[in-house]
Amino acid sequence: MNDMIKKTAVASILSMGIISSIYTTTTLAYEPSDQVQTVAHRGAAGYAPENTMAAFHKGVEMKADYIEIDVQETKDGELVVIHDVTLDRTTNGTGYVKNHTLQEIRQLDAGSYFGEEFAGEKVPTFEEVLDEFRGKSGILIELKATYYYPGIEEKVAAALKERNMHLPAHDKIIIQSFEFDSMQRMDKLLPQVPVGVLTSRATDLSEAKLSEFAAYAEFVNPSRTLVNSSIVDEVHERHMGIMAWTVRKQEEVQPLLDAGVDGIITDYPDYTPRH
Ligand code: G3P
Ligand code: CA
Repeated sequence: MNDMIKKTAVASILSMGIISSIYTTTTLAYEPSDQVQTVAHRGAAGYAPENTMAAFHKGVEMKADYIEIDVQETKDGELVVIHDVTLDRTTNGTGYVKNHTLQEIRQLDAGSYFGEEFAGEKVPTFEEVLDEFRGKSGILIELKATYYYPGIEEKVAAALKERNMHLPAHDKIIIQSFEFDSMQRMDKLLPQVPVGVLTSRATDLSEAKLSEFAAYAEFVNPSRTLVNSSIVDEVHERHMGIMAWTVRKQEEVQPLLDAGVDGIITDYPDYTPRH
């Protein structure tokens, strides 16, 4: 894996826990790792209801390097961890997350849809996940549908700062989104926290777009279907890391390893090489 260079002030990254120091100018930011990072997607979502404490605990138990969480905002401005913008698929509620208060959402069952043994699992709050998993796992934080939640970046930054989790020497945190403007904002708010751009569009992997991302991002995280060794090289040449999503079959792992990715985001953390 190539060295990564952060353009502004920065921190560590992928390697994941190995931080040499913090710089305020363009410089090397970390020691490269030869170990591909395993990210438990929405927790170990193949084994437990996604984005629940049960799923995150499962990811840790399966020795994932990171848990991945999806963050949105309630009607009363609280940060919650849920993937869809609506409640319908993963809870016994209906309607948009943004149209319900935290108290309403906390009453919902977010486990039964997956299996009766998970009945009673709640939609976690963002802060609850930070408090429970800091020090136990890296946390890959995805900001979902930020166009619905103006100012969510400031709230996420405040929650991390309150806990000193914006300092890479303390915690392994990465923030990512499909909304690139949101990540530019996040990079300014928390210059020491690595940010990533998510994409499922091949056009976002052009040389021009990758160079644009390199101005503020430390990761380009594409759909696994777009990943090959030349894309990986292009990303690395711009001093960023690349993590591919979402692996749901064992046979999807080796091509990503062969391509040279830095991380594999998977519902099944046991499919990737252990270390
Ligand atoms: O971490 C990458 C992945 O989570 C992006 O897709 O829809 O599962 O949030 P999605
Ligand atoms: Ca996600």
